[in-house]
Amino acid sequence: MEVLDEKRIERDPIKHFKIWFDEAIAANLPMPDAMSLATVTPDGRPTARMVLLKQVDADGFVFFTNYQSSKAKQLEINPYAALVFYWAQLDRQVRVEGKVTKTAAEESAAYFKTRPRESQIGAWASPQSEVISAREVLEQRAHELAQQYCDREIDCPANWGGFRLTPDRIEFWKSRIGRLHDRILYELQPDGTWTIKRLAP
Ligand SMILES: Cc1cc2nc3c(=O)[nH]c(=O)nc-3n(C[C@H](O)[C@H](O)[C@H](O)COP(=O)(O)O)c2cc1C
Repeated sequence: MEVLDEKRIERDPIKHFKIWFDEAIAANLPMPDAMSLATVTPDGRPTARMVLLKQVDADGFVFFTNYQSSKAKQLEINPYAALVFYWAQLDRQVRVEGKVTKTAAEESAAYFKTRPRESQIGAWASPQSEVISAREVLEQRAHELAQQYCDREIDCPANWGGFRLTPDRIEFWKSRIGRLHDRILYELQPDGTWTIKRLAP
């Protein structure tokens, strides 16, 4: 039986996250990198959608998207966001909260280069989160772009790139018998250290 012990757990939550993330990958879970991203609209309504984690390190959690999408517009006004991972087969949840900033243009371009060509065309073709009159409009645009680029390299659109969430709260949750689950909360302190507390399930 797995136990989360606040006295023995990693002092650095990113280290602990990486252990769990690697275990989720090793367990062949479907989309272990899928995370729910919650943002807040200007009138204070929370809104959430799935995105994929593309990088995680001491600087934070990185995902890529369209900079004119609803989420990007919300993050421009209110940069605070929350992520949730749920790895069902491992009975584990991770909640992450913090402030989001755009990744450097070079970082976005470097990642864009690694994407399949269809996804690169899709990034140019889709005005993400806008109303479109029909699916055909999108398909037509993608078709035209594919012809236009022919076999030329496709540049990263200026309105596409990454966001990095720099965490100041991370909670690890592990189910236990009788609903007496383990919940370990890390909170970042002004001096850069993390406090570790146990929460009631
Ligand atoms: C499993 C999964 C992964 C997704 N990954 C991404 C992603 O990495 N980036 C992205 O922009 N949208 C991704 N999407 C689509 C988003 O959930 C969402 O539809 C889109 O980003 C528009 O959101 P918005 O209108 O709130 O900005 C993903 C959807 C699913 C179901």
